[in-house]
Amino acid sequence: MLDKRSESLFSLSLLADFSGKREEFFEIYPAGEGELLAGSKRAVLVGLGKSSERKKEAAANELYRCLGGEIARVCKKRKVSCVALLLPGVDGVSLPEFVEHIIEGILLGQYRFDKYKTDTQKKKKGDNVFLREVIFLVERKGASLQAAIERGERAAKAAMSARNMANEPGNGWTPQHFADFGLMLSKEDDVTCTVFGEKELQKLKMGGILGVNQGSAEEPRLVIVDYCPKQYKETILFVGKGLTFDSGGISLKPGAGMMEMKYDMCGGAAAISAMEAIIAEKPAVRVVCLVPSTDNMPGGNALKPGDVITHYGGITSEIENTDAEGRLILADALAYILADALAYGVEQYTPDAVIDLATLTGAVIIGLGHHYVGALSNNDTLCNAVMAAAESAGEKQWRLPLDELYAKQIESQVADIKNTGGRPAGTITAAEYLHKFVGKTPWVHLDIAGTAWDYTEKSYIPKGPSGVGTRTLVEFIRAKAGEK
Ligand code: BES
Ligand code: MN
Ligand code: ZN
Repeated sequence: MLDKRSESLFSLSLLADFSGKREEFFEIYPAGEGELLAGSKRAVLVGLGKSSERKKEAAANELYRCLGGEIARVCKKRKVSCVALLLPGVDGVSLPEFVEHIIEGILLGQYRFDKYKTDTQKKKKGDNVFLREVIFLVERKGASLQAAIERGERAAKAAMSARNMANEPGNGWTPQHFADFGLMLSKEDDVTCTVFGEKELQKLKMGGILGVNQGSAEEPRLVIVDYCPKQYKETILFVGKGLTFDSGGISLKPGAGMMEMKYDMCGGAAAISAMEAIIAEKPAVRVVCLVPSTDNMPGGNALKPGDVITHYGGITSEIENTDAEGRLILADALAYILADALAYGVEQYTPDAVIDLATLTGAVIIGLGHHYVGALSNNDTLCNAVMAAAESAGEKQWRLPLDELYAKQIESQVADIKNTGGRPAGTITAAEYLHKFVGKTPWVHLDIAGTAWDYTEKSYIPKGPSGVGTRTLVEFIRAKAGEK
């Protein structure tokens, strides 16, 4: 059903050419005709599809995001810097939801990373024209619409921060950059940032982070951002793999495609970027984010296959392959945060839930390709909540099992565990490694190796890093804060 304003649009006698099916775009040139389009050089009709396709809220929101991305694409193509959106009175379209997600899609869709392009190059290609203004033409501008716009903006901006970090080359984003970002966040009330450098890590005996860092010219960092509101009932922990470049170490990766391993910090980027939005939204939930960060390089001092390291807390690990380094740095962070306060004399965060994100295994790409994040968990309730948040963020996940049988694959002859479990079920054995450190604490591990870049083609997902996981975490905390 169309309202009056939409009817006047359709009276431009092109109704027959535009069916309104999902994501259909129809460009028209109104030439100053009609009250509504007066002054506009171009207009685009956008199809919302059948209402039955929008029944589920998550599906509707994903459609609006995709449309936003398409709008951004058209604006870029036409070098348009201002767009006005006329929101139709279509049955079953909730205006705040529509506004929130279309803004999210527009912002995510117009994203580009051109920091390292010179201005003259950009001008030549017209890449210097940005969409600067989005105007909503609505009957009433209520507070709820303003709030919706801001929610969409915050989620998109956080995901774009994650993309920016990932787009930086290995020599442009080092462990210290994660520390700087955390310190920047800690300017806000209720936020503290702790950064452990090499000396502190040595004192704490974090053999995983230090071991992976042995071949590196760059110091490691463990960055902890703690958003602690005055009142809260639950503490949620994020841990993100911040591997700023993964050469494989002595178990060196092949040269082809190695460049992509600058993206091996996407888990850390998603976790710490989500904090940006969460801190701004001030939920009554404590959220602590840990990013262990280093690169993984070969060198005279580097870890060797066969070496044994000791993690924070004492668990020993035999290094079968130095390229299975992500689990080593994550394990220290998890052990640290979950440590028994009495035994180790450190502040305990006693999280109610732990979510870690990591570009952990090539195997998850074999299993799920580039369309689903791999989820592994020791707790069904938490896992369902994380998967629900992922669905409403438009970042699909698929759960894989954990089982003692897989844990057996990482038993070592010489140490407590070893860091690889052979080729079968590589994603699961990697998760079982982390499982040793979280024990019974409710935990979800998200393997984003297939989705952190080369993600499903969508209008609001650019080539290169996707920022996947960031909006899932933001949604998860929003849902928590909404719980009574
Ligand atoms: N960062 C990689 C995983 C990866 C591979 C991410 C390809 C994205 C694309 C990780 O550190 C790694 O090298 N994992 C190894 C583990 C193996 C040695 C047990 C892998 O998956 O091959
Ligand atoms: Mn590796
Ligand atoms: Zn890695």
